[in-house]
Amino acid sequence: MSQHFSLPSSPLLSPGDFAGSPLSRVLRQPFLLGLFLPIQAGGWTPSTLPRTTSWTFDYNLALTRRAEELGFDLVFGLAQWASKGGYGGTTKYRETSLDSFIATAALAGATERILLISTLHILYGPWHPVHLAKFGATLDHIARGRWGINMVTGYAAREPAMFGMTKVEHDLRYEMAEVFASRLAQLWSSNENLTVDGPYWSMEDAFVTPKPRFGRPIMVNASGSAAGIRYGVRHSDIMFITSPAGNQLEDAVVSVPGHVAAIRTAAAAEGRQVRTIINPMILCRDTEREAIAYRDAIEAAADTEAVEGFAEHGRRGDAQAWRNQRRLHRAIGGNLHLVGAPEQIVEGFLKLRDAGVDGVQLTFYDFAPDLEHFAEKVLPLMYQAGLRLPDVPTAAASRQPAFAG
Ligand SMILES: Cc1cc2nc3c(=O)[nH]c(=O)nc-3n(C[C@H](O)[C@H](O)[C@H](O)COP(=O)(O)O)c2cc1C
Repeated sequence: MSQHFSLPSSPLLSPGDFAGSPLSRVLRQPFLLGLFLPIQAGGWTPSTLPRTTSWTFDYNLALTRRAEELGFDLVFGLAQWASKGGYGGTTKYRETSLDSFIATAALAGATERILLISTLHILYGPWHPVHLAKFGATLDHIARGRWGINMVTGYAAREPAMFGMTKVEHDLRYEMAEVFASRLAQLWSSNENLTVDGPYWSMEDAFVTPKPRFGRPIMVNASGSAAGIRYGVRHSDIMFITSPAGNQLEDAVVSVPGHVAAIRTAAAAEGRQVRTIINPMILCRDTEREAIAYRDAIEAAADTEAVEGFAEHGRRGDAQAWRNQRRLHRAIGGNLHLVGAPEQIVEGFLKLRDAGVDGVQLTFYDFAPDLEHFAEKVLPLMYQAGLRLPDVPTAAASRQPAFAG
């Protein structure tokens, strides 16, 4: 990337570099385990098959608390800006959603151990690095080092249009994100006032304190493009990847190893390590036959207009990560489908680990009961397979007394 402007020569230390940080505790797990929160109506699947899944805060709070009890490492919410009717259909897919930044951050006071990742479109509206440096430092202290940001730049023109803005060209978005993240790093680390004259964002005598507890909040991005990977290996601790070839496991295991290896090599060239996680939709029942029947029932009740509306939203965007996807069972949603009996789900995880992926960020159709089934039937097998270790709490994760002395 050509940089005609001055940026810090090396990214700030990651919270993963601090032995006592919540991130470094989580990174001791052999295989990361996250839950993708359904803060948007319809979750990942436009289907009318009855379920409990709900975008409401209380539902997502209960899910987060349960995930924490079960030893999950993180929860994460997506951010999309849908107009009236959402992506269409009788379900008005994703018309209603909670804001990811606010909703995920609000979980900080209600949890103790789990990492909380908010998605934010840094290029929409008048976001300034000073805002996010201050908000991020504040959340870092409230969550005691457990909060992080999934920095996204927006791939669909209709979203910035909502803000009266025009979509910025793909690679330029990542160049702007690079500047934004570098300014955050400067604000989080500098003990002096900062004055810079652009590009994109200027500041005069800008200063942020308190500093985050472990260098900076956790940084995440989701990308498959060369520009996005360039950005991610410089700034992210965790990158959400997609299977470059499609949403079926047999395609993923072929295409993912080279993809992950390229990310690792690029990170090593920056003197860094970036963890990759992928998002499977888990459709699990006690037997494979029942799991397939569950998938078929969800598909049979698909809100086809919404399925098409969401696909059209993707086609109109310029996200490169999904360009070559073969998408079978499209209505099911998610970046990858794992359908089967508990043993088959764990076999799928092992294949992903062998492909080089560092963990999974799960979605379900009927979140609360499907998470319980996962906890009862799949999670014990993950421990047996060595994918998970019992959690070892660190002193840093515990609450500090509110009043000293
Ligand atoms: C697991 C995952 C979650 C994502 N969440 C969001 C999101 O919440 N909001 C958003 O606008 N884009 C989201 N994206 C899309 C990415 O921000 C990005 O546009 C996409 O991965 C394509 O990036 P690329 O063109 O660099 O390959 C997500 C992608 C993945 C894989």
